[in-house]
Amino acid sequence: MSVLGENILEATMSLDSSPGSRGSQHLFDDGQMVQLFNEPGPYYSSYPSLSEWREGGTDQDYRAALREFLQENSDAPLFLYLHIPYCAKLCWYCFCNIHISNNRERIQAFVNTLNLELENLERFFDQIGMRPNFREVHLGGGTPSHLDHAQLKSVIERVRSIVDVEQLAEFAMEIDPRTVDHADMEYYASLGVNRISFGVQDFDPSVQGKINRVQPFEMVENLLDTKTRSLFAGVNFDLLFGLPGQTPETFRRTVELTNSLAPERVAMIRYAHVPDVRKHIRMIDASELPAPELMPGMFEDGARGLMHEGGYQWVGIDHFAKPQDALAKASLEGQVGRNFGGSSTGRAEYTIGVGPTTTHAFGPHYFQSVYDLKQYRARVEANEFPIFKSFTLDLMNVARRDCMFSLQCRRELVFSEIESRYGIDFRATFGPTLERLKRYQDMGMIEIDQDGIRVTDDGRYFIRLYCREFDDYLENPLAYKIHGP
Ligand SMILES: C[S@@+](CC[C@H](N)C(=O)[O-])C[C@H]1O[C@@H](n2cnc3c(N)ncnc32)[C@H](O)[C@@H]1O
Ligand code: SF4
Repeated sequence: MSVLGENILEATMSLDSSPGSRGSQHLFDDGQMVQLFNEPGPYYSSYPSLSEWREGGTDQDYRAALREFLQENSDAPLFLYLHIPYCAKLCWYCFCNIHISNNRERIQAFVNTLNLELENLERFFDQIGMRPNFREVHLGGGTPSHLDHAQLKSVIERVRSIVDVEQLAEFAMEIDPRTVDHADMEYYASLGVNRISFGVQDFDPSVQGKINRVQPFEMVENLLDTKTRSLFAGVNFDLLFGLPGQTPETFRRTVELTNSLAPERVAMIRYAHVPDVRKHIRMIDASELPAPELMPGMFEDGARGLMHEGGYQWVGIDHFAKPQDALAKASLEGQVGRNFGGSSTGRAEYTIGVGPTTTHAFGPHYFQSVYDLKQYRARVEANEFPIFKSFTLDLMNVARRDCMFSLQCRRELVFSEIESRYGIDFRATFGPTLERLKRYQDMGMIEIDQDGIRVTDDGRYFIRLYCREFDDYLENPLAYKIHGP
């Protein structure tokens, strides 16, 4: 481990096991810090962010890029993401590309197409004579638990034709707690699912009413009884801060209730109010949203509550994991990875998506599949991968991404690692970037020395801002457009 790595380990451990350097004082009592936390801009789960990817990527481009990547990296650890876009009921806050339907025939037609895409993928692997090394599978959406047992079984059987499910490090599934019971959970476990994720969002009954997602605490508590917990290696909760009707007090209570159920992982995400992107979000009364100035404090309180009262370790930008969980262990070992879902254990570095809207990331390539379900079906039935967008990074931009992901996942950037990987002199190449980062050094958020950059405890709240300084594509009003490094 690097010297910086050891420092980071020490810092992480002290941060996670003590009340923290500021005691009861809050970072976001300071107005300048509030402003910085609230600055708009990407979270860099990919680089460049999705909006920069170009329309026009094709099935042939995808096949050629994936073939070349797998032939050069036959052991590359892969993450298989499957997207099931259907839900039983609309949550007004939801920005995902979903369809509300309880029509079993319609959902069955989709499942048939998804299974056909999995078959097409199997045929592609046969053609290139490879069985890739899938390490993790994630069933996401939408709501995978909205499939009935037979539909889910058929999908997992098709997955099994390309993945050795018993050898996976992780097989996760997103679940809507309102629509499942104990028998369903047992069934999921019997199919090989070993981690589950609940979209909890908030436990306050009044907030739940305002987002059209009523799922009482007792419902979630009852589902997670000892027997059900024993079926899975881990449970994840998604929490959202910034929802209508939330106050710092109600959100602290949601975090306390989360601590009482002790899921192995928590993702604490800022609510994005985007009525222009999803019309149904207009159902939310914008006047009931908490003031933007309150948001950083809500996140800080939540992070402190999870760490100091719940015993969680903070991983990456917005994930928290119990020390015995694989994600926390990966964090201590400097192995955390970044994918579209956020922080990962780093055991599956490259993503292949199946289903509409999915994103794919391997080597220097990004691809995205179509959103529209009719188009999705037509392309898959024509034996095409339903790609419509792509982006391929040049080597310097792969290096920039490496810098960003290192800061996010390890809270450090070791210059010599980047120099040896890309054959560059870090200071000569990124001189102007380092110059701009001094601003954050002066504020005590990062430390820069001759070996690298280290993010301080307070600096963890702003990691995406340091990443932005490495971004070569971003155009924004703050004149951050970087033409050279
Ligand atoms: C697509 S949902 C799938 C989870 C599952 N369907 C459920 O609701 O239980 C995944 C997560 O996206 C997050 N999400 C949805 N809308 C969001 C928004 N407007 N801003 C931020 N995160 C959002 C929520 O935390 C949600 O749990
Ligand atoms: S939050 Fe989950 S259940 Fe609600 S609409 Fe979005 S994907 Fe569906």
